Amino acid sequence: MATDTTGDAARDDATRPDGPTDSPFVRACRRRSVPHTPVWFMRQAGRSLPEYRQIRANVAMLESCRRPELVTEITLQPVRRHNVDAAILFSDIVVPVAAAGVDLDIVPGTGPVVAEPVRSAPDVERIRPIDLSDVGYVDEAVRMLVKELGDTPLIGFAGAPFTLASYLVEGGPSRTHAKTKALMYGEPDLWHALAGRLAEVTLAFLRVQIEAGVSAVQLFDSWAGALSEADYRRFVLPHSTTVLGGLADAGVPRIHFGVGTAELLGAMGEAGADVVGVDWRTPLDVATGRIGPDKAVQGNLDPCLLFAPWPVIEAEVRRILDEGRAAPGHVFNLGHGVLPETDPEVLTRVVALVHELSARN
Ligand code: CP3
Repeated sequence: MATDTTGDAARDDATRPDGPTDSPFVRACRRRSVPHTPVWFMRQAGRSLPEYRQIRANVAMLESCRRPELVTEITLQPVRRHNVDAAILFSDIVVPVAAAGVDLDIVPGTGPVVAEPVRSAPDVERIRPIDLSDVGYVDEAVRMLVKELGDTPLIGFAGAPFTLASYLVEGGPSRTHAKTKALMYGEPDLWHALAGRLAEVTLAFLRVQIEAGVSAVQLFDSWAGALSEADYRRFVLPHSTTVLGGLADAGVPRIHFGVGTAELLGAMGEAGADVVGVDWRTPLDVATGRIGPDKAVQGNLDPCLLFAPWPVIEAEVRRILDEGRAAPGHVFNLGHGVLPETDPEVLTRVVALVHELSARN
C-alpha cells in the first residue's frame, strides 16, 4: 500500500507558520508580534565554520559566488548548524559591480581589490547597467535556496552606493576613505554620477533577488559612518533612497545597516528602511529614539564579545534583549559581522539563549 502522508501534512500545516512571510524574522521586521525574538548573524556563512573552509578550499571567492550549488550549500551551512531564524545569501557586495564590467577580485585577508580605480567621468561611464542575464547565477541560487529553506526566510543583500564607491575609488579597502572624500568634495558632479550609477546597479541586483524569492533584503552601507550627518544627507542619502525607495512596493522588508553610524541612524531610516541595523556602540533603546517608532531595529552584540567567558556573553545578550524591547520590532544580530576566529559553538549557544529568554507564552 502506498504511504498516505495526508495526515502528516495536515498536522504540519496546522503547527507551522504560513511560509517565510509569517516567520518570526519577517514578522519582527514588520513590527508584528513574534513567538520569540528572531536571530541571525551577519557573516554567518563564512570562515568561522570548518565546513565552509573545507568546501571553499580550492575555489576563489568570486568564483564560488557564481556557482549556484556551492552558494546553496554554503548558505545552508549556518542554518543547519545554529538554528538561526534566517539565512543570508552567500555572495559579496562586489558581485554586481563585477557583473557591471569592473575588473576586480576579492583577495583573501584583504577584501575587494579593483584593477583600475574609478577616478574620472570615462571610468564611471564604463560601469554598465545590469539585468537578470548578467547575474543569472544569483537568480538560480536564490530559487534553489527558497525550495530548500521551506519556512526559513532567505535574506538577499547588496552594498550601498557609498560603500561600493569607496572600494572603486580607493582601489581596495581604506581606513580613511580619503580618495573617496576628495572626489566627493572636489568633484561633486562626478561623485553624484558615480553614486547614481551604482544605485542603479544595486537596485537591479536586489530586484533580481526579490523576483527569485528572497523574503527580505539588507542594504549594507558598512563604511557610511565615516561621514558627518550633513555630508551623508548631501552626498549619500539621495542615492541610498534610489535603492530602498525603489523597492517600496516590492513587498519585502528592507534592512539598512552601517558601522559607526550613531549620528546617522535617523537619516539612514529616512532612506526607506523598515529596519535599521545598529552597531554595538549605540544601545538599542537610544537607537530607537533616534530612528523613530515606525521602524524596527537589528543588532547589536559586539562581535568581539563572543571571545569573552560565557557568563559575560549571557549578560550582554540579556541587556540587548531588554534594550530591544524599547523598539517596535527587534531582530537580534551582532553589531557587525562574525569574525573568522569565532568559535561556532558559541554562536549556536547565543541563538538558543536568545530564543529561550525571549520566548513569549
Ligand atoms: O554570511 C553572510 O553574511 C553572507 C555573505 C557575505 C559576504 N560578504 C561573504 C564574504 C556578505 C553579506 C558580505 C558583505 C560584504 N562584503 C560587506 C558588507 C558587510 C560588512 O562586513 O560590513 C563588505 C564591506 C564586503 C567586502 C568584503 N568582501 C570584505 C571586507 C571581505 C573580507 C576580506 C577578508 O578576507 O578579510 C570580503 C570577502 C568575503 N566576503 C569573505 C566572505 C565569506 C571572505 C572570503 C574568504 O572566505 O576568503
